[in-house]
Amino acid sequence: MDAPWLVAVLTTPRLALRELTATDAPFMLQLLNEPSFIRNIGDRGVRTVDDARQYITNGPQASYARFGFGLYLVELRPALTPIGICGLLKRDQLPDPDIGFAFLPAYWSQGYALEAAAAVRDHARDGLDLPRLLAIVNPSNAGSIRLLERLGFSYESMTRLTPEAHDVKLYARVL
Ligand SMILES: CC(C)(COP(=O)(O)OP(=O)(O)OC[C@H]1O[C@@H](n2cnc3c(N)ncnc32)[C@H](O)[C@@H]1OP(=O)(O)O)[C@@H](O)C(=O)NCCC(=O)NCCS
Repeated sequence: MDAPWLVAVLTTPRLALRELTATDAPFMLQLLNEPSFIRNIGDRGVRTVDDARQYITNGPQASYARFGFGLYLVELRPALTPIGICGLLKRDQLPDPDIGFAFLPAYWSQGYALEAAAAVRDHARDGLDLPRLLAIVNPSNAGSIRLLERLGFSYESMTRLTPEAHDVKLYARVL
């Protein structure tokens, strides 16, 4: 039987979303080093399973403890095959939480990202009572922009998270 901390936070017809744990480090090592992740989101400098464990502790798990939400592991039901991550982040630079998602290329174009992100968006409104969600996206990331528009997000402005970072597009959706 699953340990209690592996219970799903959200389920959809095809997917289960749950909190990341140290046991997900090998999967995260793979996902964070996908060329599409590095190109569109950034290089997190995670090169070993140990690095990935630290990333999970300092990133998603710190966020669960501080905000009650974070990035979740997305698994295919019923086998619980990990295929990506999707969830919410709260950054100091942005006034509201933003939605994030990344999937292994083998699982693209099957509607999984849309299914996971729609569940996270609805949970933000119904479970967390958030009034508004943001999203930031690399201007050249057409697939992600299409997904955000399908989720009801609208373009707000160009922004920059740090002075030395590239410009990103800020999207928003009132919940
Ligand atoms: C961004 C990302 C998550 C988008 O993934 P995706 O595969 O395009 O999204 P989906 O899985 O929802 O697939 C949507 C496509 O599947 C098609 N599709 C197939 N079966 C489907 C189904 N059952 N339900 C819905 N759509 C389905 C849709 O028509 C759509 O096609 P289109 O985009 O060509 O019009 C993915 O490209 C990724 O992980 N990129 C790397 C990380 C990244 O860029 N993250 C975003 C940072 S802002």
